[in-house]
Amino acid sequence: MKVKAFEMIKGDDMHCHLRTGVVLKSVVDFTSKYWGRAIIMPNTTPKAVLTADIASAYRNAIKIACHDNFEPLMTIQINDKTTPAMIAEAKKAGVVAGKVYPKGVTTNSENGVIDLKSLYPVFEAMQEQDILLLLHGEMPGENVFCLDREEIFLKELIDLNKRLCNLKIVLEHITTSAAVECIRRLGSNVAATITVHHLILTLNDVSDGKLHPHNFCMPIAKRPTDRAALIEAATSGHFRFFYGGDSAPHLEENKECSEGCAGVFNAPIALQLLAQIFEEAGKLDRLENFTSKFGAEFYGLSQNSGIINLVKKDWTVPNSYPCGESKIIPFMAGQTLHWQVEE
Ligand code: NCD
Ligand code: ZN
Repeated sequence: MKVKAFEMIKGDDMHCHLRTGVVLKSVVDFTSKYWGRAIIMPNTTPKAVLTADIASAYRNAIKIACHDNFEPLMTIQINDKTTPAMIAEAKKAGVVAGKVYPKGVTTNSENGVIDLKSLYPVFEAMQEQDILLLLHGEMPGENVFCLDREEIFLKELIDLNKRLCNLKIVLEHITTSAAVECIRRLGSNVAATITVHHLILTLNDVSDGKLHPHNFCMPIAKRPTDRAALIEAATSGHFRFFYGGDSAPHLEENKECSEGCAGVFNAPIALQLLAQIFEEAGKLDRLENFTSKFGAEFYGLSQNSGIINLVKKDWTVPNSYPCGESKIIPFMAGQTLHWQVEE
């Protein structure tokens, strides 16, 4: 019998960009109404979240902007200037994870890292303090071909896990079958997040003779075989694959231009689309593991107490959402989805 409605434990979005100012105010409720908690990315501008103090102020700003009972889980960005003392301060301030961006591989990563090994003393401090390490897993450098960046990076992950085997590491927004296999082989302290858009897109959806800027994100969507491996991993019931949406809003004019920004804004539709994908895979019963159990478990958190009700009812994704004088185009704009969250 076809499921027409179901309830599940409220989930966690373990990778989310909320930005600041007017964008924060415009987007935060799309995350807070569907998710109990979210891991908040630190690549804000003009000031990145590099310290405990900035993280605390940013947490307050998010709490003020948001209308729901929602817990932002804060991160700081780890780069050449981070010290072990800063890790201890972050821990005291309630920061749960440190994020590493390789230099220049994505939006606002100019202050990122070239050599991961130079950060090992900081990673040791993170291991001691029980702060997770979140990796944007792409090898930087002009000479690395863009579709190979993730696969080449896997060696860094393996080395790091060997050297600091008690450090909890999340390889974020994986896009390749190579990353799926690597995560399966590694031990219990290494997990991966998977976005919703990488379960839908291949590189054809970014450019098929025309450019589709709202499907452009980093790591860029890859081959159909990679997408199939990601769907398999997400729906497999393996506890080291969980949801991290990487909802990354940019104003329309910053996407639809030359040198447009990388990032897909999926927060308004992510849970509804996940239900559709899991249903199509015949694995709807595994959605709650992926969204609401495995991530919390890996982070050492209890499950959320709230409940979410999903109902099978078609709706059309709006063409845009207002943001100050401008607007933000969501993922799947104008398309019909089959599940809704009952509010
Ligand atoms: C993210 C953003 O816009 O901040 N963009 C993206 O393409 N995913 C940064 C990131 O997570 O890489
Ligand atoms: Zn991101």
